[in-house]
Amino acid sequence: MKAIYSPHYTSPENLEIKEVPTPIPTKDEVLVKIHATAINDYDWSMVRGKPFLYRLLYGIWKPKHAIAGMELSGVIDDIGEAVTQFKKGDKVYGDISEYGFGSFAEYVAINEKALVLKPDVMPFEEATAIPHAALLAYQGLVEKGKIQKGQKILINGAGGGVGTFALQIAKMYDAEVMGVDTGEKLQNMKTIGYDEVIDYKKENFTKRDERYDLILDAKTSQATWSYAKALKPKGKYITVGGTAGNLILFGLSSGLVSLLTQKKFQLLALKPNQGLDVINKLYADGIIKPSIDGPYGLEEIPRLIQYFGEAKHTGKVVIKL
Ligand SMILES: NC(=O)c1ccc[n+]([C@@H]2O[C@H](COP(=O)([O-])OP(=O)(O)OC[C@H]3O[C@@H](n4cnc5c(N)ncnc54)[C@H](OP(=O)(O)O)[C@@H]3O)[C@@H](O)[C@H]2O)c1
Repeated sequence: MKAIYSPHYTSPENLEIKEVPTPIPTKDEVLVKIHATAINDYDWSMVRGKPFLYRLLYGIWKPKHAIAGMELSGVIDDIGEAVTQFKKGDKVYGDISEYGFGSFAEYVAINEKALVLKPDVMPFEEATAIPHAALLAYQGLVEKGKIQKGQKILINGAGGGVGTFALQIAKMYDAEVMGVDTGEKLQNMKTIGYDEVIDYKKENFTKRDERYDLILDAKTSQATWSYAKALKPKGKYITVGGTAGNLILFGLSSGLVSLLTQKKFQLLALKPNQGLDVINKLYADGIIKPSIDGPYGLEEIPRLIQYFGEAKHTGKVVIKL
């Protein structure tokens, strides 16, 4: 099969497409013929081995997984003898990162628990764009944030993958939603339904007089004290991401700030695929829809990982095989 093979840490543009053996599923695994995959933060750091701290997860000297990629949609091509959930021909999708990587290839063999059935109404290119970003938004707003009808919500990093889904979910709750981002994305954010947009390069939203019930953050770009000031009494702040340095500072300060202000500060650790049943229903009802950059071809992945790392993409970068 063809795969983007990366046995050493390297600059994404040095990656090559190679002919490698098609994997054989073990007893708990299914072999998936991949129809579409997407680029994620994990790929940008796993291919380069940067930040260095991440090598504790990915392998100190070289990547444990020579083929990156963790979101996919495709068709079950073969099954191991102990597989109970799927049969050949089933259409599936999911975030496979809990069980392995390897979606930048024509096939992957992966534990059956890494996948769910793909609804027929959801095209492969859209399905692959959903698991990671939609579930960060859903688990952040609904499960951790316990969003309530009519709340005032702010999304920081609002024009990215998570922000776009978060807006769609917040609107189900008739929330008033502010979005913080910059550049050309601001116009698009207005078009897709943000009530107000704030350009983080021109204004620090925490210095406004406005107070929010819930802040969902994809960037952790402010000090925890500043977020506390922007929250209403008993308000909640949930972060899903940011640089390692900012997240460490958040971890060190949030307990104290919470104790002093009685406001809640939480870091979401994504539970892969948990809640995709709800997302499937929201998709079928036309409430959520991914925003896609692409689809591109497999051979374009080296360039696309660099493009993603430089934040030149809009929406989810999707590759169709
Ligand atoms: N919690 C978990 O378990 C988990 C798992 C996987 C990933 N993650 C994290 O989840 C996040 C994914 O978010 P995403 O897919 O929505 O990212 P994304 O598509 O890269 O979007 C982030 C947006 O934030 C904007 N931005 C940059 N700096 C900002 C600032 N200072 N203030 C406000 N906005 C700013 C970016 O604009 P520019 O394009 O101009 O930079 C971009 O539009 C990442 O941080 C990732 O590390 C978390």
